[in-house]
Amino acid sequence: MENDAFKELKEAVLEKISPKPEERAHLKEIAELLIKKVEYIACSMGLKGVSANLVGSAARNTWISGTHDLDIFIMFPGNASREELEKNGLTIARKIAEESESFEERYAEHPYINMRYRGFDVDIVPCFRVESAACIRSAVDRTPFHNEFVKNNINGLETDVLLLKQFMKGVRVYGSELRTQGFSGYLTELLVIKYGSFENVISSACEWQPGTYIDLNSHGTIQHAESLIVVDPTDPKRNVAAALSLDKFCMFIDSCRKFLLSPTLDLFFPKSLAPMNEKELIQRFKSRGTAFIAITFKTPDVVEDVLYPQLYKMKLAVVALLEEHEYRILNVGSWSGKKTVILLELMSATLPALRKHRGPPVWVHKHSESFKDKYENAEDIFAFYIENGTYVAEVPRKYPDVNSLLKERLTLCSMGKQVSSAVKNGFEILQGSDICSIQDMDFKLFLANWPGRSNIIQ
Ligand code: UTP
Ligand code: MN
Repeated sequence: MENDAFKELKEAVLEKISPKPEERAHLKEIAELLIKKVEYIACSMGLKGVSANLVGSAARNTWISGTHDLDIFIMFPGNASREELEKNGLTIARKIAEESESFEERYAEHPYINMRYRGFDVDIVPCFRVESAACIRSAVDRTPFHNEFVKNNINGLETDVLLLKQFMKGVRVYGSELRTQGFSGYLTELLVIKYGSFENVISSACEWQPGTYIDLNSHGTIQHAESLIVVDPTDPKRNVAAALSLDKFCMFIDSCRKFLLSPTLDLFFPKSLAPMNEKELIQRFKSRGTAFIAITFKTPDVVEDVLYPQLYKMKLAVVALLEEHEYRILNVGSWSGKKTVILLELMSATLPALRKHRGPPVWVHKHSESFKDKYENAEDIFAFYIENGTYVAEVPRKYPDVNSLLKERLTLCSMGKQVSSAVKNGFEILQGSDICSIQDMDFKLFLANWPGRSNIIQ
C-alpha cells in the first residue's frame, strides 16, 4: 500500500492533525503550571507523598491538534484512606478551579473536577499510587500504568496513532464513553503497538472476527467478549476493548475495507450532513410509509455515562412493551439535548379493533369449556370459532393505537432511576410530522441521519 498517493494522503491528514511546535510548547507550559500548582497546594496543606502527573494522550504525544484536553492526576500514597483521597483531592482541585473559566464537580468512582482552564479542558483526578495495575484500589489508578506502558513502547509510532485516531473519528467509532461504545485512546495506542503501523492496523482489521484476541504479553486470561479482546498489558484481567460494541467493531472493519479500496481524505474528515428543512424531513419520512412516534421528556441532569445506559434500558423496555401488544418496530433511537427524545419507527401506529385470543385445544375438555363459556356469548366479542384445534375468541383490543398504550403504560416500564423519574414528571407523545417541528438544529440532524445507528454527530 506504500505508494506515493498513500504517502500524500497521510501527509495531508497529518498536516491537519499533528500539533505544531508552538501548540505543543503551549500545552506543555500549561500542564507544567498545573502540576506545580497541585504540588504547591498539597505541600502548603502539609500533605506528604502527594505528587501530580500528566497522563493521557497529552503526556504521550498522541493528541490531535486542537483537542486541548489535559488529564492531570493527583497521586496519593497507596496506603492513604479513601476519605483522605476524596477530601484532600477535591480541596486541591477546587483551589485550582478558583482560577478557571468554569468548572464542574463530576463523579466517577470518586469525585474529580473538570474545568476550562486557559482554553484547556482539564480533568483533575485524584488516584492512589499503587505497586502495579493488578492491585489498583480504584479504576483510575490504572491510568498512570497505561501512561508508562505507552511511553515505553510507542517510540516513533506517535503519528500512526494520530492517523488511527482521526480515521476512527472520521468513521465515527472513536470514544469509549457509553454513548459511543467505540475505541478508547489507549486502545488505538495498543493496536498500533501490536501491528506496528497505521496501515497494518487497517489491513489486519479487515480480517477481524468477534473474539479476535490481542495479547501483547501473552497473559491470556480473558475468556469472552462480544467484539474484540485486547488484554491490558498492565492488568491482564482487564479487556481494554470491553466497552467496544459489536456494531462499532463492525463499522470499523467495514471502514477499513472501504479505505483499502479507495483511501480518501473524506474518510478522515467526513462532510457533515446537509441539514434538511422541515418540509424535506416530512417528505422523507412520508416516503418511508412507516409510522413515527416520539416520546419526549426533560433530560435528567446526570452525566452522559449515567444517562446513556438508562436510555438504552428505556428503549429496550418500550420496544418490549410495544411488541407485547403486537406492534412491529422497525427502528428505535434516542437523542438528548435539553429534552430527550425516544424515536420509534413502526410498521403502523394503529392496529385492528380486535385481537385474536387463543384458547385451549378443544379436546382439553374442562379448560376449553370454561374458555367457551367466558367468551362465546360475551357482548363485545367479534367472533368465536375453532382454528387449528383450539377455540379462538376475537376480543376487543385494549390499545388499538400506540398513543393510548404509551400514555397508559409507559411509566410502568423499567428505565433506570433518573430517566424513570424524569418520565414520571411528565412526557409528551408526538406523532408523524409533528416530530419534525421540534426546534433544535442538532435534533434535525438526528432526523436527517435517521435511521443511522451511530447517534454521534461531531
Ligand atoms: P481519555 O479519554 O482522555 O483518552 O482518557 P486519551 O488516551 O487521553 O485520548 P484522547 O486523545 O484524549 O482522546 C485518559 C486516560 O484514561 C484512561 C487511559 O489511560 C487514558 O489514556 N482511560 C480512559 C481508560 O483506561 N479507559 C477509558 O475508557 C478511558
Ligand atoms: Mn485525553
